[in-house]
Amino acid sequence: MIPYEERMALLRQQPATWLVTGVAGFIGSNLLETLLDLGQYVVGLDNFATGHQHNLDEVERTVAATAWQRFRFIRGDIRDLATCRAACAGVDYVLHQAALGSVPRSIEDPLTTNETNISGFVNMLVAARDAGVRRMVYAASSSTYGDHPDLPKVEERIGNPLSPYAVTKLVNELYASVFARTYGFATIGLRYFNIFGRRQDPAGAYAAVIPNWCAGLLKGEPVYINGDGETSRDFCFIDNCVQANILAATAGDEAADQVYNVAFGERTSLNELYRLIRERVAVRVPAAVRAEPIHRDFRAGDVRHSLADISKAGRRLGYRPEYSVRDGLDKAAQWYIERFAV
Ligand SMILES: NC(=O)c1ccc[n+]([C@@H]2O[C@H](COP(=O)([O-])OP(=O)(O)OC[C@H]3O[C@@H](n4cnc5c(N)ncnc54)[C@H](O)[C@@H]3O)[C@@H](O)[C@H]2O)c1
Repeated sequence: MIPYEERMALLRQQPATWLVTGVAGFIGSNLLETLLDLGQYVVGLDNFATGHQHNLDEVERTVAATAWQRFRFIRGDIRDLATCRAACAGVDYVLHQAALGSVPRSIEDPLTTNETNISGFVNMLVAARDAGVRRMVYAASSSTYGDHPDLPKVEERIGNPLSPYAVTKLVNELYASVFARTYGFATIGLRYFNIFGRRQDPAGAYAAVIPNWCAGLLKGEPVYINGDGETSRDFCFIDNCVQANILAATAGDEAADQVYNVAFGERTSLNELYRLIRERVAVRVPAAVRAEPIHRDFRAGDVRHSLADISKAGRRLGYRPEYSVRDGLDKAAQWYIERFAV
């Protein structure tokens, strides 16, 4: 198997065309940045449902001007098949990230989550298949493990979904394997576990915990922990997630028609996470040292513990996460400090 560094060197020598859906979002904009840095051509698709122009602007400021010229943006909706077809034309690799995330959002509005995450997904499968792309990699989710009690989570053992969002991500996997069997169009699903890092949105009711707490502590606002804080997650820094996507896209056919856990492989409780974030924020806002979180009810649809077995991605994709939770938090906190410290 070709290691990640060599895979990137090969891409630099022979640039390809990539479609990143959800490109204005957190993960999509990070994929865009790395791909442009690697000399690739990128088509981006987004309807700004939860993504932002300012994420694209930041990538434009970060990469070289010549790199930005290799990017073409389509403002459009994956619920429209014609848009998906236009976006897939002439593309080698698809990294499908567009979806409505968040368990609580899906509980409040299952219809829109279903249309985006399932109908939009099938549109992308059809469009990518018909365009003859070399590989489609899609964002699956650790929520697919549902109520299965085993820890760590291994890809083959899943339970019942606990939210409409989890149903949509499970259905994605079912459709993906049916497309492989029925049409010979084999994709790769990456089951992300709590990805975090620069450009993850701290705003709104559905913000993820790390951006929410970083911004809250920086602004001196109250920070809430749902439940007793002993809930735990396998938090994974964004650069590890980008690595997994590039490896999956360029992996041999023997690695396709599979799903893989993408995580760091370590469990951190919310209480511990709070201490780690507070420590880092306090470097800039000393008063944060004394800030205590407010505990409130557990959230519906949340699982108690989550931890990934990442050995399958290691064995079959060559995935080696480079950033630990602490290393990733150093970088993420710095990014939030630069933008949100008052
Ligand atoms: N962040 C995580 O920890 C995590 C964990 C598991 C799975 N995922 C999955 O990873 C993917 C990316 O998540 P993210 O954290 O970057 O979220 P995000 O909300 O920042 O990005 C999603 C992007 O998709 C776009 N989008 C939504 N609906 C669309 C539509 N109908 N047409 C076109 N674009 C649309 C949004 O505008 C946004 O830019 C999603 O599929 C999500 O379910 C993320």
